[in-house]
Amino acid sequence: MSALTKEMLAFEPAITFEDVSVGFDDGQVLRGVTFQVQERGTLILLGETGTGKTLTLKMAAGLLTPNSGSVIVLGNEVSEMKERELLAFRRKIGFVFQEGALFDSMPVAENVAYRLREDGVADEEIESRVREVLQFVELEHTLEQLPSDRLPGR
Ligand SMILES: Nc1ncnc2c1ncn2[C@@H]1O[C@H](COP(=O)(O)OP(=O)(O)OP(=O)(O)O)[C@@H](O)[C@H]1O
Ligand SMILES: [Mg+2]
Repeated sequence: MSALTKEMLAFEPAITFEDVSVGFDDGQVLRGVTFQVQERGTLILLGETGTGKTLTLKMAAGLLTPNSGSVIVLGNEVSEMKERELLAFRRKIGFVFQEGALFDSMPVAENVAYRLREDGVADEEIESRVREVLQFVELEHTLEQLPSDRLPGR
């Protein structure tokens, strides 16, 4: 690979939306959305309720396919990927849902451990990594609680 190509790749945006439109039976929600986010960049989407912020994120994560236009994330043309390719792609990105999106019947520790278990990580490693991240967000005391359990003092 030439030095020039490497340099060009270094500046490739992490996310590119080009002329993206999406809608449902009752009409178009987003029309001609075009933007780029550079690696380590931050983009804030502001808009009234129902204007399509969550739909935009869902398209970036490959959870929703646009009606037209192109969505490119980390060099992948997400808008054209098959479900099988999308499964592998989603392992590389993070997505915090607007609602909790937790498994109500599983304790907090198991909710956090879910992806690691899917990947076949050893039990001891799962335990220490779960404890570490929960400690980091000062929620270590909730390990055994269910998502619906009330926090002490609330
Ligand atoms: N699966 C769907 N079927 C039909 N309409 C949908 C669907 N998903 C979203 N919509 C509609 O698309 C529009 C945009 O929704 P979206 O959830 O992206 O809004 P938002 O900007 O995230 O709003 P909020 O600020 O309330 O979170 C809304 O009118 C919503 O009702
Ligand atoms: Mg939303």
